[in-house]
Amino acid sequence: MCGIVGYIGKRKDIYPVLIKGLKRLEYRGYDSAGVAIIKDGEIISEKKIGKIKELEKKVGKGIIGGEVGIAHTRWATHGGVTDENAHPHFDCNNKIAIVHNGIIENWQTLKKLLEEEGHKFKTNTDSEILAHLIEKYYKEVKDLAKATRLALKKVIGAYGLLVISLDEPDKLVVARKGSPVAIGIGKAEYIVASDATPILEYTKKVIYLDDEEVAVINHEGYKVVDLENSDKEKKVNNLDWDITMAEKMGYDTFMLKEIFEQPDSITNTFRGRIIPEEGKIKFGGLNISDEELKGVKRIIISACGTAYYACLIGEYIIENLTEIPTEVEYASEFRYKKPVINGDCLFIAVTQSGETTDTLFALREAKNLGAKTLGICNVVGSSIAREVDGGIYLHSGPEIGVASTKAFTSMIVAQYLFGIYLAELIGKVDTKQTKELIYELQQLPDSVRRILTLSDEIREIAAKYQDNRNFLYLGRGNNFPIALEGALKLKEISYIHAEGYPAAEMKHGPIALIDENMPVVFIATKDKVYEKIMSNMQEVKARKGKIIAVANEGDKEIAKIADDVIYIPKTIDLLNPILTVIPLQLLAYHIAQRKCCDVDKPRNLAKSVTVE
Ligand code: F6R
Repeated sequence: MCGIVGYIGKRKDIYPVLIKGLKRLEYRGYDSAGVAIIKDGEIISEKKIGKIKELEKKVGKGIIGGEVGIAHTRWATHGGVTDENAHPHFDCNNKIAIVHNGIIENWQTLKKLLEEEGHKFKTNTDSEILAHLIEKYYKEVKDLAKATRLALKKVIGAYGLLVISLDEPDKLVVARKGSPVAIGIGKAEYIVASDATPILEYTKKVIYLDDEEVAVINHEGYKVVDLENSDKEKKVNNLDWDITMAEKMGYDTFMLKEIFEQPDSITNTFRGRIIPEEGKIKFGGLNISDEELKGVKRIIISACGTAYYACLIGEYIIENLTEIPTEVEYASEFRYKKPVINGDCLFIAVTQSGETTDTLFALREAKNLGAKTLGICNVVGSSIAREVDGGIYLHSGPEIGVASTKAFTSMIVAQYLFGIYLAELIGKVDTKQTKELIYELQQLPDSVRRILTLSDEIREIAAKYQDNRNFLYLGRGNNFPIALEGALKLKEISYIHAEGYPAAEMKHGPIALIDENMPVVFIATKDKVYEKIMSNMQEVKARKGKIIAVANEGDKEIAKIADDVIYIPKTIDLLNPILTVIPLQLLAYHIAQRKCCDVDKPRNLAKSVTVE
């Protein structure tokens, strides 16, 4: 969703820093972009709908020089996609410029009050309110930071906010509530952004603002206060990502790069956490004592989208290993359903970005009701990572492609590690078993590597089916969530309608859809339901459906029924989804590529969903 970038520091030209920063945030999804720079007593600003290169065209040769600047990519919520509605927004006199992520819920009330006081609005966005409110208070207090704090006290809603003003041209004011802001601390320069990717190439040192905090940055340094102006001590974090991780490195798209990174990202999730010779798992940051874990009687795992499907696999793994009742909840449903929770309950929030609003609010609800909370999260220092009692970082590196791939497989690995840890702690598995489970995990990266060599073959299969308008994905057991994930990947990046079902459910309805125009993707690896899946395949074949099967190497039977087979190595049941999902990621990718879709930035989608 929206991205913000701000710069204040020693550089002579800050426009390229802002534009580059916006480009690094492109992956979040946006529909327009804008920039404002204070230069020689003037605010120079341009905004434009469309891609950042449209903005660059409008700016022409660029903006040379400047003292401080802010920039924005907008993902429209209030007000249509127009140049006017793009950020930055200004006060009545064009002296104050703001960029804003989030939603101001009481904007209509505030707008009415401000209009009564004579403020003239140029757009129909909620964000413009902020510029006028700050203007109002600036007239009274003649201090940009104080005026911002006073304005924010009137606001209901969420904000990641940057403010600059001609009256205080050597200052950048930054504020946050509910919408993330990171401040990169460089050598005599500060780069502010909605996440760390624009900051990485300048510095590894960042501070993250917490809700209702305001930072005032000038050339001498920075100070963070709360809305009441009390000083806040901020921890300086060291980013462990480097800039090459946020670049394409020769791949056509970030998504393909991220699919191919999975042997490494999977390894990075378990690296340092397994002791194979002892059959032990160790975690650094669980922050829940073994005694407390032993008292857990129920586990709730919650997330959205692809992360939710990873939780369904986690449920299977954790329940299987620990025998503790485990449930999975859509975060968006959990928070409104009056959940029954008590102190015996462990709540696990699973999220790549750590910023998904529904997951964050579900976590807060669980915490309020007394659950212990864990986060399984990729982005270090993100809101969810900071609010949970303890957690497991994925360490998969930045995921830039909007469609999640490598974070998904790492989420399964993290839950697998946690399942083994807990099962061992409560005596449900012995050392011989944990050694075996760890051994199987260690084999995964090589198996994934082997599957990735099938990419060209899968591209050929994609060519045969790219013009179909509907797909069905069927799987059973812990491959049912993979059917859901395979269908989601296809629909989000190729805009083809696809549905995932438990294979046995087909005959209770979806079978009516089967004809020669319906490709059905079966996940049919050799597990305890293999024979049943084969029967489902016969049912599809009898109705002239086309079958694409993901099967285990050496399975000759399946080739007699399926039109196309993708053969993958075998692993244990619990880990099988990590291998079965890779061909489905590649199938969706190649179909979308052949249809010339923008796979990294699919239409209407945002990487980090920070609205309800
Ligand atoms: C789909 C996808 C989304 C996310 C969902 C949750 O490919 O990426 O469905 O999984 O928006 O995002 P996180 O994991 O950041 O909480």
